[in-house]
Amino acid sequence: MTGEGTGQLGRLIARRISLTGPITVAEFMTEALGHPRLGYYRKAMPLGVVGDFTTAPEISQIFGELLGAWLAERWMAIDRPAPVRLIELGPGRGTLMSDALRATRTLPGFHDAIDLHLIEIDEPLRGLQATALAPFRPTWHARLDSVPEGPTLVVANEFFDALPVRQFERTDKGWVERMVGLAADGETLRFALAPGLSPFASLLPEAPVGSQAELSEAAQAIADQIGQRIRRHGGWALIVDYGDERAGRALSLQGVRGHRGADVLAHPGETDLSAHVDFTALAKAGGLPSFGPVGQGEFLQRLGALQRAAALKAHADEPQRQAIDAALARLIAPDQMGTLFRVMAVGDARGGAPAGFSNFPASAT
Ligand SMILES: C[S@@+](CC[C@H](N)C(=O)[O-])C[C@H]1O[C@@H](n2cnc3c(N)ncnc32)[C@H](O)[C@@H]1O
Repeated sequence: MTGEGTGQLGRLIARRISLTGPITVAEFMTEALGHPRLGYYRKAMPLGVVGDFTTAPEISQIFGELLGAWLAERWMAIDRPAPVRLIELGPGRGTLMSDALRATRTLPGFHDAIDLHLIEIDEPLRGLQATALAPFRPTWHARLDSVPEGPTLVVANEFFDALPVRQFERTDKGWVERMVGLAADGETLRFALAPGLSPFASLLPEAPVGSQAELSEAAQAIADQIGQRIRRHGGWALIVDYGDERAGRALSLQGVRGHRGADVLAHPGETDLSAHVDFTALAKAGGLPSFGPVGQGEFLQRLGALQRAAALKAHADEPQRQAIDAALARLIAPDQMGTLFRVMAVGDARGGAPAGFSNFPASAT
């Protein structure tokens, strides 16, 4: 696949490659999403109707409310620590957390115990989060490792899919890394295989020639930090994202611009890039007992999504009732987000499986 290196960031990346040689796909993603001035997640308002995509908390308040109830129940399960570091990774517009906190306001002691930390690199989104969550006086961080130690509850919806991935192809010589280089015109970005074998080959499974693989060091490093934090102080993490069993064993990186599929390499900084999340790799890197992943539809229904929708409809007029049903269907229907998105919990499993995962025995990693 090729892409026109249009735009200021595309030209900067092309110049870097012309000076120092091809870069890894992860390096390209890091620049395209996180370049301090021109990266997609530095300047854009990516979410919502005017943005490039819509996420579950923006579809229905039920999503954040049920995740809030789950977090509150886990707080009780770990003996109601105060303070508890409540951490959201990539909070978007702050909608999930705002719905979660509204839904749990009557639980005695919970809000008093919460010390809220938001991991976010997008300045415009930080502004929206500040408005949505002002009463809870959040602290922002660019990285998880600057959050103070202590008992921890983590929630992440569509965060891990935005982290950089490396890509590989199995050739007759062995695993070779897929790189981003330049076409003959010296300007257009294009994919090309590295000439030599990858030092990551030892981490990749034996596979026939032609196989492909993807791995996210950034995602695994964050999972490792969550694991260390929870092992030291107790806690739980709930991760919602998309990625099926093939994640890690196929190339899944995709571009989205204005709610449509877009060339990954064209318009860096203006195109959302994401990759399927490899839940197995995350669970392994976290090193904690893990539950799931279970389909988002099944998970939300086990937590009472249908009952919550019925309660909302009881106070609604007919158009509102139809809107509530339509939003719920988007979240839970198997042909919409219900099975594509999956939910995994990791944590201090001494008390058994958390809500929504009751038929999943803990898989110790
Ligand atoms: C796909 S959006 C999801 C937003 C929100 N969780 C939701 O469900 O609406 C990804 C979020 O992660 C943030 N983000 C992306 N890459 C990040 C990084 N490397 N570090 C911190 N935040 C990041 C984005 O700015 C955004 O808030």
